[in-house]
Amino acid sequence: MRTDYSGLIDTKYLGQTVTVKGWVHRRRDHGGVIFIDLRDREGLVQVVFDPDTPEAFATADSCRSEFVVSITGLVRARPEGTVNSNLTSGAIEILGKQIEILNAAVTPPFQVDDENLSENVRLTNRVIDLRRPAMQKNLRLRYRVAMGVRQYLDKQGFIDIETPMLTRSTPEGARDYLVPSRVHPGEFFALPQSPQLFKQLLMVAGFDRYYQITKCFRDEDLRADRQPEFTQIDLETSFLNEDEIMDITEGMAREIFRDVMDVELGDFPRMAYNDAMFYYGSDKPDLRVSLKFTELTDLMKTEEFKVFRGAADLHNGRVVALRVPGGAALSRKEIDEYTQFVGIYGAKGLAYIKVNDKTKVTNDETSGLQSPIVKFLSVAALTEIMARTEAQDGDIIFFGADKAKVVNEAIGALRIKIGHERGEAGGFFVKEWRPLWVVDFPMFEHDEDDDRWTACHHPFTSPKPGHEDLMETDPANCLARAYDMVLNGWEIGGGSVRIHRADIQEKVFAALKISPEEQQNKFGFLLDNLKFGAPPHGGLAFGLDRLVTLMCGAESIRDVIAFPKTQRAQCLLTNAPNAVDEKQLRELNLRLNKKAEIAS
Ligand code: AMO
Ligand code: AMP
Repeated sequence: MRTDYSGLIDTKYLGQTVTVKGWVHRRRDHGGVIFIDLRDREGLVQVVFDPDTPEAFATADSCRSEFVVSITGLVRARPEGTVNSNLTSGAIEILGKQIEILNAAVTPPFQVDDENLSENVRLTNRVIDLRRPAMQKNLRLRYRVAMGVRQYLDKQGFIDIETPMLTRSTPEGARDYLVPSRVHPGEFFALPQSPQLFKQLLMVAGFDRYYQITKCFRDEDLRADRQPEFTQIDLETSFLNEDEIMDITEGMAREIFRDVMDVELGDFPRMAYNDAMFYYGSDKPDLRVSLKFTELTDLMKTEEFKVFRGAADLHNGRVVALRVPGGAALSRKEIDEYTQFVGIYGAKGLAYIKVNDKTKVTNDETSGLQSPIVKFLSVAALTEIMARTEAQDGDIIFFGADKAKVVNEAIGALRIKIGHERGEAGGFFVKEWRPLWVVDFPMFEHDEDDDRWTACHHPFTSPKPGHEDLMETDPANCLARAYDMVLNGWEIGGGSVRIHRADIQEKVFAALKISPEEQQNKFGFLLDNLKFGAPPHGGLAFGLDRLVTLMCGAESIRDVIAFPKTQRAQCLLTNAPNAVDEKQLRELNLRLNKKAEIAS
């Protein structure tokens, strides 16, 4: 029997005999004695075998990395000077008396403590990768978050109800993963993009407070914070308004940070979507970075400089400045790198002004400014730029001029990049948790490619009271009862008060150009049930993977998911997705077209 986990044995055990079981993390031969660092889920312990116990010594000598062993021995203090204060067991070692090899292992593809592995290697050998202490820690933290969520929601009277995985498409804005039906040739289930419609129907059914920690599936372009299948903490309530729902979910975030991280989250300021875009170019601003945009569009409408004037005159154009304190010290090379960086987001350049001496910006001279564009701008405009940005000597001011979307994305990303790279030294970054609510989202966003309106959140979101008519007359200015929780620049949750009246739901579908036939065909089950006495209701879903990633300080959500997919939506461990037998296809009444056959 195991008596203890390796990683937990400390000086309290001195003089005791213990039995530990786990993996050989490292085996070292120190001229006459064998050291084995034994690893289990709680960490490492050092075991020493000396030739006084010849049988155990020989077995220990034959062990290799990742062998599974059982060891019994005596806990003793480590010799002075060899104490490792990084380990719980760092002050002791076990003098090994018996060792049994429970299973040998072939040479692993990498050492478990190798920190320089490519993600491909890690994901291909995920099982070994998961043995790494960092991954063990991440997944245990994930468990504690999920546990905390369940405890909190249980206290608040929520009950966990499962919803189907094989279902109809729910429009959350991504492509569906489809599952062909064998029984109904030519027909398909969709995997849920979220439980949205089912949770609303559970409210109509009278459950009042529902939650679920559940998988969602979205076939969309993947990034560090996106997976094709991910986990939501999904919840829905009846009879509560947005403030009450935000209170409950904010309370949950607070409690989890307190219990799991021992962190007291500060204020959750509320910021209107329009303000977030205006000051940060993003609907999920990272408030740890204090840099803000300065609006210059109006000012540039009367300037000659065509790069700025052209953008200011566009109906959807924008010109902004981003002042970086102390940035005048940036080298040409560094500015070139930032210029390349904003290019990723479609910016055609990155104009800048270095402010060397503010007193030397007059009608007679502009020698206080160093910049390729100063000569194209009037002194009045330059003075105004200095005033609006509150520039100080030693600062640099960057400029973005283009369609608003490009400017927001490019300068927004630059703001984050510079904030993270230079903010701590420059005094414009705080290393803290900075949550906020983004509220007053628009109902619709305009899809330029198709020239049509799409739902900004999802089409079941209620317009603000008094905004119902704007859906038809002025969709751009129709606001929604939607809210997102944002933490350190990540959207960790989003929700809304829903439409509970069938007539208003039909109006929203109409604004989205979904014909009555299509409405009935796709959402008849919702519309019909809204007519059976649907209570006012609303909710929210957190992205559990994102929340845990932030809490772990990981770079990617792949580091908090045991078996994630790559950026190309593949599982390198199992090699899914994979081609299937002709027979399986025939059963499903499917035939591949030639191109797919050739590609596979
Ligand atoms: P939404 O689409 O905003 O809302 O999703 C809720 C939260 O889920 C997380 N998330 C993701 N995480 C990882 N990978 C993805 N591909 C991914 N997509 C979304 C985000 C996001 O905030 N039904 C609504 C919720 C509601 O209205 O109650 C919904 O799904 O953290
Ligand atoms: P140009 O006139 O194209 O040589 O550009 C003059 C300066 O403006 C250069 O520093 C460019 O990097 C910058 N620039 C060009 N296009 C843009 C843009 N769309 N937004 C911001 N700066 C730009």
